[in-house]
Amino acid sequence: MAASANERRGKNIAPATVDRSYFRLAATRRFWPDLVSAIRGRAGPHPFTSMNLALPAIRRPLFAKTGVAFALAVCLGFSMTRAADSARERISLNADWRFAKDDPAGTGDQLAYPKIKEWVLATGVDLLSVTAPKPVKPEGNPGAAVAYTQAAFDDSAWRKLDLPHDWGIEGPFTQEYPGETAKLPWWGVAWYRKHFTSTADDAGRRVYLDVDGAMAYASVWLNGQFVGGWPYGYASWRVDLTPFLKVGAENVLAIRLDNPPLSSRWYPGGGIYRNVWLVKTAPVHVAQWGVFVTTPVIGKDSATVDVKVTVQNDTAATPSVQVSTAIFALDGAGTKSGPALVSSAPSTVKIMTNRDALVAQTLTLPQPKLWSIKTPNRYVAVTTVTQDGKVADVYETPFGVRTIAFTANNGFLLNGERVMIQGVCDHHDLGALGSALNVRALERQLEILRDMGCNAIRTSHNPPAPELLDLADRMGFVVMDEAFDCWARQKKANDYHLIFADWHERDLRALVRRDRNHPCVVLWSIGNEIQETGQSDGWKLATALAGVVREEDRSRPITAACNSIAAGYNGVQTVLDVLGYNYKPTEYPKFRTSSPLVPLFGSETASCVSSRGEYFFPVSDDKAQGLADFQVSSYDLSAPRWAWPPDVEFKGLDEAPFTAGEFVWTGFDYLGEPTPYNNDSSNLLNFSDPAQQAQMAKELAELKKITVPSRSSYFGIIDLAGFPKDRYYIYQARWRADLPMAHLLPHWTWPGREGQVTPVHVYTSGDEAELFLNGQSLGRKKRGPLEYRLRWDDVKYSPGELHVVAYKNGAKWAEDTVRTASAAAKLILAADRAALRADGSDLSFITVKITDKDGVMAPRAKNRVAFELSGPGEIIATDNGDATSFESFQSHERAAYNGLALVIVRTKAGAAGTLTLKATGNGLASAEIVLKSVAP
Ligand code: GAL
Repeated sequence: MAASANERRGKNIAPATVDRSYFRLAATRRFWPDLVSAIRGRAGPHPFTSMNLALPAIRRPLFAKTGVAFALAVCLGFSMTRAADSARERISLNADWRFAKDDPAGTGDQLAYPKIKEWVLATGVDLLSVTAPKPVKPEGNPGAAVAYTQAAFDDSAWRKLDLPHDWGIEGPFTQEYPGETAKLPWWGVAWYRKHFTSTADDAGRRVYLDVDGAMAYASVWLNGQFVGGWPYGYASWRVDLTPFLKVGAENVLAIRLDNPPLSSRWYPGGGIYRNVWLVKTAPVHVAQWGVFVTTPVIGKDSATVDVKVTVQNDTAATPSVQVSTAIFALDGAGTKSGPALVSSAPSTVKIMTNRDALVAQTLTLPQPKLWSIKTPNRYVAVTTVTQDGKVADVYETPFGVRTIAFTANNGFLLNGERVMIQGVCDHHDLGALGSALNVRALERQLEILRDMGCNAIRTSHNPPAPELLDLADRMGFVVMDEAFDCWARQKKANDYHLIFADWHERDLRALVRRDRNHPCVVLWSIGNEIQETGQSDGWKLATALAGVVREEDRSRPITAACNSIAAGYNGVQTVLDVLGYNYKPTEYPKFRTSSPLVPLFGSETASCVSSRGEYFFPVSDDKAQGLADFQVSSYDLSAPRWAWPPDVEFKGLDEAPFTAGEFVWTGFDYLGEPTPYNNDSSNLLNFSDPAQQAQMAKELAELKKITVPSRSSYFGIIDLAGFPKDRYYIYQARWRADLPMAHLLPHWTWPGREGQVTPVHVYTSGDEAELFLNGQSLGRKKRGPLEYRLRWDDVKYSPGELHVVAYKNGAKWAEDTVRTASAAAKLILAADRAALRADGSDLSFITVKITDKDGVMAPRAKNRVAFELSGPGEIIATDNGDATSFESFQSHERAAYNGLALVIVRTKAGAAGTLTLKATGNGLASAEIVLKSVAP
């Protein structure tokens, strides 16, 4: 028997959690009774006090009669796919754009956001709550007089390029630009124009432009008519081109971006930096992100799959449509495997003129294969909308079957089992590629993180590219999906606070609606280090934002990353389902005592700083030490005032085992925020050489200031080029305790340090180790409780071989050796993948290593290396991980940094063949590597 609509809605809000502390009813009622009414007034019933589902904020949804689920495998696959070809198309619009910086002369400020705000605000109104007044586009056509908006404008002299594109990464680095945003020119106005031909069968269809991300303040014109816009650079958004489309003819899209300076604390990039799509549908179709799949009841033999479909009627008629769902298994590559596992009977719904209808269906999926970090099994729900016996739309929604729970006393449970969150925070840039999305570059990042034992990603501090979540689903990472870095109070003069009032609801709802089917997403974060959360009335705004999230998804908990200790005590902790503390390893037990029911985790930890391959002496445990030459010592003991070496955070977690784990700041170095060298006037004399110190002191006296060259961060466990720093191994030792590994630091090539104290530290998943220098034991040491590294702090350097043997439970477990290198002599090339897809976006990341004649890495080598590629591909970037380098990322030459450099090669679309990369360096034996590019 089908459950009634209300029963099903009730079921839907009870996520299959196993620990009731997740709900924390008592805490909410006892301390903040007014919160409940506040939420009720704003957004319908409170999720934790009522079993009714608030109406989603769609255009007056109507509930359909629901079809009865039946577990019959039917082969709908073929006919639906064929039908889909005619019903819905999603076409990549990335190729062949024209690009120019700045407005045409004479534009003045007529297109500045404050001037066209009323028109822009009429965009995305379906993302406002049902009860909110909807902005209506005023009369008039802003920008009509600006040449670049007009179809007839001759843009043939403009630069031709493909998206995704980030104009900032093209540089040049400029010393006077802020290090905080990478000393790159990412701000300003730019225009993108695209000519495309509409096909005759667009007549009567809806045609949308879907933009996954454009930085920032986008405004869109089609054939000279203002269509809409979106300010938030990290949001994914849609505008409806239909009213302005010339069917069966050439059309010209013009997109203007206006990226304000002083709007970011890190490098945001500039441009249409994510994918862009043309989506064509029938007038009656599944709305944007219009399918929501949850699995409220999961058993061994079956899982209940609730599917809610929003059908949009863009006609003056009141059609009756049938909606049905079929579920297929997906294979590892995301392709449907086999016939439908279950299908629903069609539900019939009549939709009012220009309205939406919500159809709810419940299916029973037999023998569900659970999604988990180790076995990321996935399914796809295929929704078919039929009108007058014809398929009007087919819409696919990948999903996973899993339970999640954040518990107060036993951390995070995935499918009922405790999983330690071994996470990293990352910004969106891809190092030398800037912010321009490339899926392979993202996948490589995740591969490197997975090898370290990382199982969780925090999308700090904004919505990620949708492809990151696809990868996380497929590769088995859990994700904390974050919306904002500020609310109404600013961190930077031109940041999101300026548009918070007008846009936060749309941006937050868009994030949740877009991402709520991903099994990887286990936490919604309503913000990072939000000033309001530290204030006594911060809970009010937190409540409003949490209310928006709950209207869109009640199956996941809500958190915020709080830097203010007060947020754990001022009421904010009762609004959030899980409290995230940034850099508070000693606060966990106190918080637990004061809020025994609130789950807790380290939303941002460590912020240890280091430069790959740099070691400064003497080694100190004072975290403010270890700085020289605008680099940071890699003994992993240095951290800014608010931050900690990894060991301190580990101790905090181990002393509070109820916490769910941590998200380390950061996985990868990123562009911008070069702490501790981010403030020109407070970082004088960061040089180790007295002569350089004297020179700098002189310059300082003359200039009254010193400018620092640093343009990217030192926080990464992995450097900007993707090379692990030493720190990688302290995390691997803890996060992959079963992997036999040992890692020695520092390198052992110290001409001139003979006889001087050169401490040796070892990271190992063993519990004991013996260190040998040139065959002589320097003693065997055991790790004490709450110790995470083994230290031989008195070693006196003599060249040769340093060797460590690690033990676990008394048995030999792992070894590591470092040797003194002689002069740099040759280059060695190694590619992450030798076989590539000839699709114009696949990449090979080639590591360039400088070694001595015997193949021992020359750990201080900085030789310049030149690269040449032959065959169907191109070198799109080079890097070396040096945070102070001003060399262009597009250069085909690069100085190595501490023995390593990186070359990124991209294939050409449709051109399979052999690629040969040749590397030559002054005084070094050259090297070649051969790659294959294969037709996809
Ligand atoms: C945190 C902040 C991050 C980053 C980090 C550096 O306070 O949330 O965005 O700035 O500090 O330590």
